[in-house]
Amino acid sequence: MPSNKKFYIRTFGCQMNVYDSDKMKDIFLSHNINQTDDFQNADYVVLNTCHIREKATEKTFSDLGKIHKKGKEDQKVIVAGCVAQAEGELIQKRAPYVDLVIGPQSIQSLNKFLDKNNLPKTSITEFDVIEKFDTLNHIKTNTSNKSAFVTIQEGCDKFCHFCVVPYTRGSEYSRTVKEISDEVKSLIDQGVVEFTLLGQNVNAYHGLDTQGQSNNLASLINSISLIDGVERITYSTSHPVNMTDDLIFLHGENSKLMPYLHLPVQSGSDKVLKLMNRKHTRDYYFEIIEKVRKVKPDIALSSDFIIGFPGETDKDFEDTIDLIERVKYMNSYSFKYSPRPGTPAADREEIDQVILNERLKITQDLLNEQQIEYNNQFVKKTVQVLIDGAGKHSGQIKGKSQFNQSVALQGEKEIIGQIIPVQIKEVLTHSLLGEKI
Ligand code: SAH
Ligand code: SF4
Ligand code: F3S
Repeated sequence: MPSNKKFYIRTFGCQMNVYDSDKMKDIFLSHNINQTDDFQNADYVVLNTCHIREKATEKTFSDLGKIHKKGKEDQKVIVAGCVAQAEGELIQKRAPYVDLVIGPQSIQSLNKFLDKNNLPKTSITEFDVIEKFDTLNHIKTNTSNKSAFVTIQEGCDKFCHFCVVPYTRGSEYSRTVKEISDEVKSLIDQGVVEFTLLGQNVNAYHGLDTQGQSNNLASLINSISLIDGVERITYSTSHPVNMTDDLIFLHGENSKLMPYLHLPVQSGSDKVLKLMNRKHTRDYYFEIIEKVRKVKPDIALSSDFIIGFPGETDKDFEDTIDLIERVKYMNSYSFKYSPRPGTPAADREEIDQVILNERLKITQDLLNEQQIEYNNQFVKKTVQVLIDGAGKHSGQIKGKSQFNQSVALQGEKEIIGQIIPVQIKEVLTHSLLGEKI
């Protein structure tokens, strides 16, 4: 049935939230409700929120205030994601105009309400991950992109002492190999060639196959790489503890696996790693990096760092800098430690903010320097770029190399969607300029 209703969706946070937003988009489209980028005139406004660092809740309330003030009458407001999960009650109390509060494992309830054409004022924060994927498996996927995210694993059982994820996304759950393969096939039918397999702890994957056998991530990647039409595979985010040898070796064996690995270490100090409950040492991390580089010498490595975790001394910080200098990353993310309500580290004494800011700057300068150094090696070399859209400047197109670098070049829009060889000409801070060869 045609409808002139519209939805608007804004996404914060990690790739898993991007995936969930795409799924909510699919749910709306399956009810003939079309997307708009004008929230004021949308019938449904969705904020898909992230709770990982400071001010997340305040930001949500300030966005909600704006929506409430400027949005059209009868607009339905939906708060989804990790702030919804963590602060559902507070949202209903402080922003009573919000209609639906849905946690990350309850987004499928949107489908049920739209089926009934009735969005009640309620909050759903069950961890119903089985029902989530049972519902989503039956909703048609819609994409015009060449690269897609596929969530293969949800939740986390690691309980790092700084992190809200185990509380907002619940415990670990792996989808079956068949469910994932079916989703990959339906995305291939729409032209997708590159797949990023997602999980907050993706290498803890242990989904069942049709024989009822448990498959780890290495075996899942092997199965997916055999599907006709799959050209590139990558996965995110991995925990060092779950970097099994077969997954490491796969980087040298499976040509569809991109030579890129995001392996967050958070700190280079054994003392801080212990305080964080990361469950491994720096030497263990070095061992993994060494093994991966042995099987795939040109692999691009990236990480996340938390700077200023409670108890981090000058010596601990030096250990982090030393680790970065030894590993040499292609790019990495560094964050100021932010105490999160309900996590074990929340009540620990915080370190001085001036010292923390100085350490953050030193870390970011070093990581930027390493990124430029890494990219400089590519000048005059050829990389394989999946062209995914128009670039910033006229006549420009852009895409991603197999090493996960952003590359821009002059070219016709007709080659969007193809993987083409590009010779690198110039290195900018966070991207590369190249030429079609
Ligand atoms: N599952 C991933 C990371 C999930 S969160 C892993 O295990 O590495 C993404 C990143 O946010 C983390 O790697 C961490 O660097 C950062 N982060 C998480 N909680 C944080 C906090 N309380 N303060 C600052 N940064 C945080
Ligand atoms: Fe958070 Fe990642 Fe630690 Fe899980 S493994 S608690 S998601 S940082
Ligand atoms: Fe944020 Fe939730 Fe992802 S807290 S990082 S949106 S899992």
